[in-house]
Amino acid sequence: MLKNDLLLRAAKGQEVERAPVWLMRQAGRVLPEYRATRSKAKNFVEFVKTPELAAEVSVQPVDILGVDAAIIFSDILVIPEAMGLPYQMIESKGPWFENTIKTAADIDKLRVAEIGDLEYVMKALQLTKKNLDNRVPLIGFAGAPWTLFAYMIEGSGSKTFSKAKQFLYTEPEMSHQLLEKITQSSINYLKGQVAAGADLLQIFDSWAGVLSEKMFYEFSLRYISKICDALSPMVPVTVFAKDAHYAVTKISETSCVTIGLDWTIDPLKARSQSGTKTLQGNADPCLLYAPEKKIIYDTHEMLKAFGKNKYICNLGHGLYPDLDKEKVKLFVDVVKDYKW
Ligand code: CP3
Repeated sequence: MLKNDLLLRAAKGQEVERAPVWLMRQAGRVLPEYRATRSKAKNFVEFVKTPELAAEVSVQPVDILGVDAAIIFSDILVIPEAMGLPYQMIESKGPWFENTIKTAADIDKLRVAEIGDLEYVMKALQLTKKNLDNRVPLIGFAGAPWTLFAYMIEGSGSKTFSKAKQFLYTEPEMSHQLLEKITQSSINYLKGQVAAGADLLQIFDSWAGVLSEKMFYEFSLRYISKICDALSPMVPVTVFAKDAHYAVTKISETSCVTIGLDWTIDPLKARSQSGTKTLQGNADPCLLYAPEKKIIYDTHEMLKAFGKNKYICNLGHGLYPDLDKEKVKLFVDVVKDYKW
């Protein structure tokens, strides 16, 4: 039995005493403790593949920041790797793939990932679960098929992802084949995460915003929806499609229980468009650069706008590495101390 199950109750729409709070990228460079643990591994990929280290940094934000959930420390790029496309994380640049997908033969060569390919993540989840000792729920995650597709075609980060979009426009059938293969891999992977102890799952569609509305529905939401259908009978699923605020109503028609929001949408507007779903978000991470008074004021306004129930407090995207840890902690405390 979980000692603090606020996150799960809020996700399911049950009554809560206060809104739960956690932060995207809470296990990361904002914490000196994270940097210390990370320095024990040769590089990022090795770090992710060492369950003891991954479990250690997954629990740090619970101990240090007092958040109401842990998220497993890993990366969305473990799926392309398990399918046959290894990645590197280049310091201060981001992900880089030596091989990318260009042809039908490249797609045929990719494997559908299975749990056995990602045993190190399962092990990290089990260890994290043990280290948490039922204090708070553990969130598992995967990248949305479109976001993974974007990296697999482009080979690195990009402002426009124009190569990946070019593939959608010129090879729509092949694109669907690849998206389907990623979707099946992700379903296998997420089912494994649930078996290994994940209490809730989040799907990150970080690059939804580079697609037009029509293309988002055709090449992204359709596959996210399949993943939700496969997983939501087991655990609550959150869909976070960054910069796709036009799609809140359509996302609410999937079987997800929670919709993650970035800061570009007004909370009341999101409420009116999301039916009975729980909402998560949506403070601008840059708010945490502001003076304390401003952080407190804006956070209170956000809490009032979303309301106490069916709400999970978070930022609208991940923490930036140069944010002050004390300001991050202040944000968490303001949410926890708010008098409803
Ligand atoms: O605390 C958590 O949120 C859990 C851990 C987590 C990481 N990556 C660790 C990480 C999660 C949930 C992710 C997901 C992820 N990875 C996404 C989706 C979320 C988002 O931010 O939109 C994406 C797009 C990636 C791909 C990725 N990984 C990029 C673009 C980068 C480089 C950017 C950067 O911040 O350096 C990473 C590296 C990465 N993943 C870091 C962490 C903590 C920083 C690397 C480091 O420690 O040096």
